[in-house]
This record gives sequence, C-alpha cells and structure tokens, in this order.
Amino acid sequence: MKVKFVSKLSKMSDAIFIILSKKSSLKNLGLKDEFIKEILRSIDNKGFKFKLNEMLEINNLSDKKLKSIFVYGLGNKLNNISFLDYEKIGGRITELTKSKNQISVIIDKDVSNDEFLMRLGYGSILGSYEFNKYKTKNLRKSELSLIEIITNNSLKINRNFNRYKCIAEGVFFARDLVNEPSNILYPKEYANRIKKLKKYGLKIEVFGETKMKALKMDSLLGVGQGSQRESQLVLMHWNGNKAKKTKPLCFVGKGVCFDSGGISIKPSNKMEEMIGDMGGSAAVVGTMLSLAKRKAKVNAIGVVGLVENMPDGKAQKPGDIVKSMSGQTIEIQNTDAEGRLVLADALWYAQKRFQPELMIDLATLTGAMVVSLGSLIAGLFSNNDKLSKQIFEAGFNVDEKVWRMPLHKNYDKLMNSKNADVQNINYVGGAGSTTAAQFLQRFVLNKTPWAHLDIAGMAFSKYGGALNSSGATGFGVRLLNELVEENYE
Ligand code: BES
Ligand code: MN
Ligand code: ZN
Repeated sequence: MKVKFVSKLSKMSDAIFIILSKKSSLKNLGLKDEFIKEILRSIDNKGFKFKLNEMLEINNLSDKKLKSIFVYGLGNKLNNISFLDYEKIGGRITELTKSKNQISVIIDKDVSNDEFLMRLGYGSILGSYEFNKYKTKNLRKSELSLIEIITNNSLKINRNFNRYKCIAEGVFFARDLVNEPSNILYPKEYANRIKKLKKYGLKIEVFGETKMKALKMDSLLGVGQGSQRESQLVLMHWNGNKAKKTKPLCFVGKGVCFDSGGISIKPSNKMEEMIGDMGGSAAVVGTMLSLAKRKAKVNAIGVVGLVENMPDGKAQKPGDIVKSMSGQTIEIQNTDAEGRLVLADALWYAQKRFQPELMIDLATLTGAMVVSLGSLIAGLFSNNDKLSKQIFEAGFNVDEKVWRMPLHKNYDKLMNSKNADVQNINYVGGAGSTTAAQFLQRFVLNKTPWAHLDIAGMAFSKYGGALNSSGATGFGVRLLNELVEENYE
C-alpha cells in the first residue's frame, strides 16, 4: 500500500476519509456542496458528537462512483492530541477502509500541520502490514492500494515523508523475519536474506561454523550443535558518515530461529511461539536496513548470531562446560538459557573488532521479563546512565517504551559457577531477567557504554495493537532509528 500527499481530491478515490474536530470546519475543506449536505444530514441523524475516535460511515451517496464517506472525530481537547495519536488514527484508516481500492483523506486545517499529516500517513502504512504468503484460501487480504492525503504543501511533505517510508520498510522487514516459521527461516536462509540487502549499500559478512570455530566462539556454537542447520554469524556495515572517522555504533541481536529449549526441553504448550525467538536480531536487521535506505549520516554495525536450539544426540547437555571467545568458561546448567550464550560471543566479537562508541543488544531473552513488564514495556539494563536516558527518551517518543531495570554486583555473584567461571542460570532462582543481564555483562568491557533490551514480551503479540494487526511487531526498529537520529547523526 502506498501513501501520497496530493493537492486535490482524485476522481479515482472510492472513499473519502474526513477527520474533523467540529461541524463548522466542514465547509472549509473544499468539498462539493452536495457532499456537505449529505454529510450534515448524517451527522444530525446519527447524533455524531465529534468525540475523539468517534466514526461515522456514510453510504448510498448521490455520487455513485463514491462508495463511502467516513467522518472521524478528534474530540474537543485538541491540545491533548499528540503525534502518536495521529499515527494511531492512520492505523485506524487502513483498518476501516480495507475493502476500498483507493481513498482520499481530508483533515480539518485547524488541527493539522505537516508533521501531523506525515504521522497520519506513517501510521496508515504501519497498520497496513499483513503476513499472508502462506494462505492459499480464505484470504482476507486488504484491497487498499493507495491513500492520498490532501494538503497544499504536498511537494515538501512528500520529500520529508521519505524518512518515515524508510523506517516502515525496516519495520516490515523485521516483522516478516519474525513471522516466518523456522522450517523456512533457518540460520542459512536468514543469512541469505540479509545478504540481499547489499543492494541498499550495506556491506555484509557471513561466518559459518568453520570460521566461528577458528574464532573460538564455542559458547555460540554449543547452542547450535544439536541442530541439523548450520549456525551463522552475520555482520552488517553501514558507513553513512564518510566525513569523519568515528567509532561505530554496534547493535547486536539474538537470532534463535527456533528455541525448543534443547535437552532442557520446553513444555509443548505455545512452543510454536519460539519461531519468534530471533526478534532481537530482526530488530537489528530492520534497523540497519532503514539506516541504509534513508542514508543516515552515521557509522553503524549490526551483528546477529543465528542458531537453532534443538535436542539431539549431539546436542549440548546440562552440566557441559564450554569456553567462550572471551576465554571465560561457562557451565551450562540449563540448555534453555541459550540466548545469552549466543550473545556472549557476539558481544565479545563486536567489541574486540570494532571498539564501538556504544553497544546495544536486543533479545527475546527471558520469560521473567514478560512476567515483570508484560507486553507493554521492554526491559532496559545498562552500565551507562547517559545511554539509558537516550534510549528511554527515544522509546517514549516513538511509543516503543522501555523501563530501566537494575544491575548490581550482588546479582552478578549469583552467576558464579563451582567448576567454571560463570554459569548460565543463577543458583538461587528469582530475578531471572536481571541475572540474565548480569551474565551478558560478564562479556562487556567496562569502558564500553552498553545497553541490553530484553524484548521477550514485545517482539510478537497474539492480539496486536493500533499499528499491527497481530503477530510480529518489529519492536526496536523505530526506537533505534529515533535514538540514532536524535543523538548520533
Ligand atoms: N526464548 C526464551 C525466552 C522467552 C520466553 C522469549 C517467552 C519470549 C517469550 C529463552 O531462551 C528462555 O527459554 N529463557 C528461559 C531462561 C531460564 C531457563 C533461566 C526462561 O525464561 O524460562
Ligand atoms: Mn530458551
Ligand atoms: Zn530463547
């Protein structure tokens, strides 16, 4: 579906969507008198009050080419309407007009500006996402192919809107990756899809098991050793700041294409959700794609560890001890605490090779995170107050919220192992998200400003929200784009 900003109502539209704060604004929208009369008649008949999110659909219009006119209320507390509300209204537009082909959107001029119009368009694009490639029948596909938003500033807005389009494309790419089942999207196939992003100017490197073995990444490799599918580590380079030789930003993602738990196997109920256990890596890939598409003036590296966690005769077993690339040995007490094992080597490699300006990892890391914050806010763990504040603000601005959770040396102690340097679960139970983060911190150099986002509750949802119908959310792509743009471009 496309969004365009245009100067006048097209005859091709089969519906008009009118966003209004009050009845008296209706006559200032440049509509034909016959339309105004028909709309006023319906408004009075139905007792439409212009309350926020109140909606009226008018059919059987005298103009037979036009199937419907929608009237959407903005309420009377107009000062309270934010950019994010406009995005959500955009999402409502695509949902309500699914059965139309092409629509025009007209907005009360008293309550709009260029940014509001773009947010409306952005929300309607984000809300248009569908994942139906495997449906061969009963396809309830949207028919809507074009939304034209009317404005007398169309040239400028179309130019500025490019940024939003690029970010939405990154979000969609991430959503597709998360929604794909693991028989299709296994590590090598995932790496191949990332390789194709070369055409947008990203430089891609792919390491297979031989290369990782040579790099001594036995923590990551141990997770994948029970799988028929070869593990991969993929690096994406975006070199958008050619002027200065700056240290890059590093984004690192957990890419467990399927998490069965391994020998510490998970219960079967909802195990299928674990096709989404690569949501952290998808956010990294989606972000790198949008940075490249919008030609962000920044140097950034994405690192994703792609594995499948399976039970097998060759699989890693509880009690095994592996040596990570950092040299630290790890006792595996539970093979289902695998994400941290993948990240341990990916984080270490990223720091050693790139000495990043900052490093942020994203992972669907712990069920405990879903227990503490549910599916509304992601957990943030960090060794750096400034970075935490930047991430918190970016998340707030784009409605991908995070909340800072504690790290503390007394939690760190709980990860000490009797026979190895560290163990992969804590030995007293409780504080599962914090102790997972403490484990990661053992692989972070003190000098590296680092943040870990536990997005276990955020990467996919059964119920969906205003801007996604259900399934993968693409959480993290908007947040990281905002963070980069506000602080590092
Ligand atoms: N991928 C899971 C965490 C998860 C759970 C993500 C639910 C999304 C939804 C992770 O690998 C895992 O299994 N974690 C264990 C850790 C435990 C063994 C210490 C968990 O949370 O139970
Ligand atoms: Mn697991
Ligand atoms: Zn997992």
